[in-house]
Amino acid sequence: MSTESNKPPSRASRFFLFRNWLSLTGLVIGLGSLFSFLLLFVLDVLAPFGNPYMGVLIYLVAPAVLLVGLLLAGLGALLEHRRVLKAVTAGQSAAALIIDLTRSRDRRLFGYFVGASLVFLLVAAMGSYHSYHFTESIQFCGQACHQVMGPQLTTYQNSPHARVRCTECHIGAGATWFVKAKISGLYQVYAVACNKYPRPIETPIKNLRPAQETCEQCHWPKKFVGNLDRTYQRFLSDEKNTPYAVRLLLKVGGGDPTHGPVGGIHWHMNVGNRMEYVTTDKEHQVVPWVRMIDSQGVITEFRTPEFKDKPETFGIRTMDCMDCHNRPAHNFQAPDVEVDLAMALGKIDRALPFVKKNCVAVLTQSYTAEAEAMQKIATTLSQKYPDDPRVRPVIDEVQRIYRQNFFPEMKVNWKVYHDNIGHRNWAGCFRCHDGQHKTADGKKTIKANDCNACHTILAQGSGAQLDQLTPRGQPFAHPGGDTGELKCHDCHTGGPP
Ligand code: HEC
Ligand code: HEC
Ligand code: HEC
Ligand code: HEC
Ligand code: HEC
Ligand code: HEC
Repeated sequence: MSTESNKPPSRASRFFLFRNWLSLTGLVIGLGSLFSFLLLFVLDVLAPFGNPYMGVLIYLVAPAVLLVGLLLAGLGALLEHRRVLKAVTAGQSAAALIIDLTRSRDRRLFGYFVGASLVFLLVAAMGSYHSYHFTESIQFCGQACHQVMGPQLTTYQNSPHARVRCTECHIGAGATWFVKAKISGLYQVYAVACNKYPRPIETPIKNLRPAQETCEQCHWPKKFVGNLDRTYQRFLSDEKNTPYAVRLLLKVGGGDPTHGPVGGIHWHMNVGNRMEYVTTDKEHQVVPWVRMIDSQGVITEFRTPEFKDKPETFGIRTMDCMDCHNRPAHNFQAPDVEVDLAMALGKIDRALPFVKKNCVAVLTQSYTAEAEAMQKIATTLSQKYPDDPRVRPVIDEVQRIYRQNFFPEMKVNWKVYHDNIGHRNWAGCFRCHDGQHKTADGKKTIKANDCNACHTILAQGSGAQLDQLTPRGQPFAHPGGDTGELKCHDCHTGGPP
């Protein structure tokens, strides 16, 4: 570096103090981070779906690097100031850095500096672009905060939406939600860093975006689905693990007269109708008041006899996809459902006496950690079937069920997050369709006791019984006899009966 010159630096240039290698490096770093900031900002604004964690990069990391750059520049200037002062008092020339490109040494050094700066800028740009993609990714959402969102990530990977990015349901497109998500994203990072998050994470999520702007971006609400033919293969908890199946024709239907007959379950989403309701509990499991406004503006109000309050005081909500499909990506399966499925698929040997009962029982014990659960599942089941080689695959399967649906570290299992799609283990549809919701004149009740209103029971039982299909539907034959006035979820909880 050449600092010797005959001419003193022109005092008119206030910036001569920055003319030293340290300050120049600092300024290049600062420039790099400014560049990354702008690049990330533009990328994030243009992206069809925003992402809360980008906020961390844009508003925390980039400014921090900028600060480091500016500090370096300042430090260089300070050192330079001291050097000049010292030189002046010693009566020497206080020339600042002068790069004389006619000198080969200066040329070489300057070349290095420019080269290194260019490489740095390139790396900064590439780095920011890659970190942008990383925070967009599923790994970041679920794995960077592994323990916190581990349960949601695992269930998501086993869901029909395993290939839909987290941000597409949780944030959606547009500027307002983008900013909201940035702010809550920063808070979430703070909550995780300071260990302040709730276990389990609470639902319903208060600021989840309305379905029109998320689900309906991919699923067209006008689509007519028609009927779905589903067989629910179950097993009793007796010694023989007696199979019992129900084959249902689910009348999903549609809500738009231009694309199919209006009716069935998706009738709620009738494009001309509006369905409103209030809930009196935090989990939205108690719905004492429902209002239906049809395309002609005719209002029908239903309420339960106990509910005498003004609905406005509870905040009126409009029904959307997520009032039924509240577990599209994170379905924590109940043990009885998972064990039945594994038995139907032959992964749990049905010939083992009481195997359904034993597997459900071992899954519903409370364990403090996954490792403890794995070990206890293995020892309990091997004690039940000593010296039986058929038990080994059963243990593997029950352990898998546990790992994919139970998360003791976050206190998460099927009991924590209700599923509103049916009515077996949770109130679900029966929150409104329970025979209690009536109009003021008592003439109209929300359909309830007609078991063939939402689905047609085509066949039930086992073996040859399942071959006798009844297109008009048959009355439900509950194994073990009629259950009277009780609701299904009064007895069925997902665990042992
Ligand atoms: C298909 C849409 C969809 C996708 C994709 C999705 N989620 Fe969700 N998520 C939801 C819905 C709906 C809820 C429940 C909302 C409610 O009940 O308030 C939810 C709830 C959550 C909750 C709150 C706890 C809970 O289980 O209710 C967390 C945390 C979460 N999601 C994280 C994630 C992560 C991480 C990913 C990506 C790995 C992801 N989500 C992908 C729709 C989705
Ligand atoms: C980015 C697009 C996208 C978004 C957003 C999205 N889905 Fe989906 N959804 C899909 C895809 C893809 C499938 C799987 C289709 C298949 O493979 O059959 C699917 C499947 C489904 C299914 C059928 C599941 C089954 O068991 O067969 C339901 C129900 C569903 N989505 C509801 C929702 C709800 C509710 C939301 C909003 C919380 C939502 N989806 C958001 C793309 C999306
Ligand atoms: C009243 C409750 C309810 C509402 C509201 C509702 N659905 Fe459904 N939907 C169902 C039921 C029940 C099924 C039958 C399948 C099942 O049980 O998973 C279903 C099935 C589906 C399927 C799967 C069809 C298939 O071929 O597998 C999709 C996709 C779907 N709904 C999307 C939506 C979207 C998008 C919305 C919002 C516009 C919505 N649903 C609103 C109850 C509802
Ligand atoms: C928030 C309250 C509410 C919930 C939750 C709800 N419904 Fe409804 N549903 C209604 C009301 C109100 C009507 C109209 C009442 C009537 O005309 O009998 C209705 C009507 C229906 C109809 C008849 C549509 C027609 O063709 O006339 C079906 C089928 C139906 N619901 C299925 C379901 C299913 C399945 C679920 C659960 C996945 C469900 N509902 C959840 C309030 C609800
Ligand atoms: C308001 C609409 C509605 C009414 C009324 C209704 N169901 Fe259902 N039912 C459903 C839906 C939706 C599902 C599918 C749930 C799912 O996709 O997991 C279902 C599932 C079932 C299943 C299979 C459950 C399982 O997981 O094994 C049985 C059995 C059943 N219903 C019986 C009945 C009986 C009996 C009645 C009359 C007391 C009845 N349903 C009334 C909507 C209804
Ligand atoms: C009085 C309590 C009670 C009520 C109410 C009840 N069940 Fe059951 N249910 C049982 C018992 C006990 C069994 C036998 C369980 C076993 O052996 O594993 C059973 C078995 C079943 C089975 C076959 C085996 C299994 O474990 O899945 C189905 C399907 C079923 N019930 C559906 C329903 C439906 C749908 C409703 C609501 C319409 C309902 N139950 C209401 C107690 C009840």
